[in-house]
Amino acid sequence: MGEALNGVGYVLLDRTKLEKRVRELGWAISEHYRSRVSPSSPLVVVSVLKGSFIFAADLVRALDIPVRIEFLGVRSYGDSTTSSGVVQVTQDLSHSVEEQDVLLVEDIVDTGLTSAFLLEQMQSRRARTVGLCSLLNKPARAVVPVQIDFLGFTIEDLFVVGYGLDAAQRFRNLPDLCVFQEDT
Ligand code: IMP
Repeated sequence: MGEALNGVGYVLLDRTKLEKRVRELGWAISEHYRSRVSPSSPLVVVSVLKGSFIFAADLVRALDIPVRIEFLGVRSYGDSTTSSGVVQVTQDLSHSVEEQDVLLVEDIVDTGLTSAFLLEQMQSRRARTVGLCSLLNKPARAVVPVQIDFLGFTIEDLFVVGYGLDAAQRFRNLPDLCVFQEDT
């Protein structure tokens, strides 16, 4: 393996599996929201940056209902592989979500602190409904309980990179989801 991929271990979920699951999620989300949304009141898909940008880009193309895309930048203080629970909003939404159906799109629910914070934020902004879609869930590390309405995969307690997820800002561009192993 070349130096550019130092730290990247084995493939956990390859691109074919990711693509198939994203299509299934797109179908389930479309069915769930079809009767609630309309062109004048679309589903507001909030991509939580940076980790969900690739997943969200694929997911919205698998939806066949009216949608509006928003981006919300967050940073959780702490080192690169653990969350401290203090969530800072680095880029806010560009439009109000008041009286809208909001679907938060996350890369991974790890401790759950980020998702719990964002769900509460959307509620306090008076969204009509707030749903959560996460590509991954790592229940072994849960600190706060979070209800994931649409989940891609449950994974073991492993640090993963690729398909938008990073280790110290690297490897987001890998098309497959890989396990990060510091000494490889
Ligand atoms: P939380 O611990 O659930 O608040 O997750 C905070 C954020 O940590 C996630 O949105 C990810 O961006 C990041 N994160 C958690 N686990 C991993 C991982 O295995 N790989 C890459 N990023 C992760």
